[in-house]
Amino acid sequence: MAEEWQPKILAIICNWCSYAGADLAGGARIQYPPDIRAIRVMCTGRVDPLFIMKAFQDGADGVLVSGCHFGDCHYLEGNFKAAKRMFLIKSVLKNIGLNDKRLRMTFVSASEGAKWAGVVTDVIKTVKELGPSPLKEFQK
Ligand code: FES
Repeated sequence: MAEEWQPKILAIICNWCSYAGADLAGGARIQYPPDIRAIRVMCTGRVDPLFIMKAFQDGADGVLVSGCHFGDCHYLEGNFKAAKRMFLIKSVLKNIGLNDKRLRMTFVSASEGAKWAGVVTDVIKTVKELGPSPLKEFQK
């Protein structure tokens, strides 16, 4: 029997909220799929659009950016700036033939471990439904 395809998903997460939320989920032993690779940044405002494009270029099937809720960003408006950039990046993704559902931005606080588990589960489900990134055809 063939093994089920596992998507490669990169999560770029803010140190102060979503990383702490992910940590809480782990500490509370909340179950969620392990198919995600996380990179911690100090703020989602630090997420350069090129990070996301590079992830897709290097074989990611999906990218999740997660930070503090609006009003809670430790650098005041980093998450607003990141959210605005997501619209731009999604439009670029569509233009190069990638479904923009492969990129998701969410807001998960340090106390929302269960929400983090739900977000990860849902992102993985969405990307699995979309299948492997069509950019992989060009990497062969
Ligand atoms: S510090 Fe968390 S999004 Fe800015």
